[in-house]
Amino acid sequence: MRDLISKIEEKFGVIFDEEKLRIELEMRNLTVDQLLLDESLFEEFVEDILIKETYFFRERGHFEILRDKIFNKVVSKRNFIKIWSAGCATGEEPYSIVIFLFNKCKNNCRVIASDISREALEKAKEGIYSKSSLRALSEREIKLYFEKIDNGRYRLRDQFRKVEFFRHHLLNPLPTRIGKVDVIFVRNALMYFSERAKKKAIDNLKAALHNDGYLILGVSEYLIGIENDLYPIDFDGVTVFSKTPIGKPVETREENLLQVYKNLTPETMDEIMDLPNDVNGLIIKGMKFLKSGAIRNAINYFEKALELDDKIYFVHYQLAQLYEEIGDQTGFYRECLKINEMLKNRVPLSSIDVQFNLTHTVLRNFVKEAFEGMKWVLS
Ligand SMILES: C[S@@+](CC[C@H](N)C(=O)[O-])C[C@H]1O[C@@H](n2cnc3c(N)ncnc32)[C@H](O)[C@@H]1O
Repeated sequence: MRDLISKIEEKFGVIFDEEKLRIELEMRNLTVDQLLLDESLFEEFVEDILIKETYFFRERGHFEILRDKIFNKVVSKRNFIKIWSAGCATGEEPYSIVIFLFNKCKNNCRVIASDISREALEKAKEGIYSKSSLRALSEREIKLYFEKIDNGRYRLRDQFRKVEFFRHHLLNPLPTRIGKVDVIFVRNALMYFSERAKKKAIDNLKAALHNDGYLILGVSEYLIGIENDLYPIDFDGVTVFSKTPIGKPVETREENLLQVYKNLTPETMDEIMDLPNDVNGLIIKGMKFLKSGAIRNAINYFEKALELDDKIYFVHYQLAQLYEEIGDQTGFYRECLKINEMLKNRVPLSSIDVQFNLTHTVLRNFVKEAFEGMKWVLS
C-alpha cells in the first residue's frame, strides 16, 4: 500500500489516506499489485478516485472580485483578459467565470480550463448538470443560465459555453502555445497535494502568469506554504495572490487565518475534513470546529498543529481563549506564557489586530495573576 501511495504522490501530486485507498480498491475489486504493474489501469484508477467535487458559483466572492475589480484593471492595460481555470473538474468553475463576465466581455476575453481527469473533462464539455451543481444559485439565476431538460437535469445555455477545455497535469508547465495568462483560478485542487507537489505546481502556475497577473486559491487554501513566493492581496476581504506586490497587501499568516475564518461557509466546512493533517490542514480543521462551537475538537486540532509548529500566535491565542472557556487554568496560563515568551523574543508582529489580541490576552493573564495573588494575601 505504501508503494501505491508514493506512486500516486509522485505521478499526480496528491496524497491519499491508506484507509481511503483500501476502500476504493475493494469497491473496484482491484489489488495494489495490479495497479503497480499496469500503468494504464493505475492512471484510470487515480483519475477516477480524485476528488472532483465542485458547483456553480462556489466561493462566489472570487467571481465578484474578478468581475468588479480585476477585469477592468487587466483590460485597461492589455485590452484583453485571459483566464485559466486549472483543475476545473466538470466545468462549473470556468462556466461560472463566463457567466460573471458575460456583460463585460466583447471579444476581449478568453477562458481556458483544464483538468487531469478525462471523464470530468467530457462531462464539462457536455455542459449538462444535476440540481446539486446549481445549489448555490437562486431560482432566478437557474432560469437565466440553464434550460431544464428531463430527470432534473439542466443544460447550460449556449451563450455561456465559451470555454476551451484541455487535459493538463498541474505538475507540468502550461504549454507555451497558450501564452501567459492574466488570472488563474486554481481552487480546491492543491489542498490535496503533498508539499513537494504544491511547490512544483505553484512554480508552473507562476511561470504561466503575467507578472501583474492574479492567482486565485480556494478560501481554505490561504496558507499553502507559498507565502514567501507570492504576495497576498486583499480585495474587500477576499484574498488573491500575485507575483508582484500590487494592490493592498495581506501580509501576515494571522491576517490570512482570520480572513479564512470569516469566509468559512457551511459548504466549505464539509470539505475541510478531507484536508491533509499538515499544520495548515490541522489549523483549518480547528477553525471549523471553533466556528461550529465544538470547542474540545477545536482544541484537539489546534494542539496537534502546534506540535508541528509552535510559533503561530493566532493558534496560541485561540487556545488560551478556549482553555479559559472550558475552565482549564493550566492550559490557559501555558498558552499565555508561550505568547509572553514569543513577545519577549520580539518576533515581529505586523498586524494591529494580532497585536491587540495578544496584548489583550497577556494583560488579562497579568490581571488574573495579580488578582489570584491578592486573594492569597487576603486569605
Ligand atoms: C475538488 S476539484 C476542484 C474543482 C474546482 N476548481 C472548484 O474549486 O470547485 C479538484 C480537481 O483537481 C483535479 N486534479 C487533481 N490532481 C490534479 C493534477 N495533478 N493535475 C491536474 N488536475 C488535477 C481533480 O481531477 C479535480 O477535478
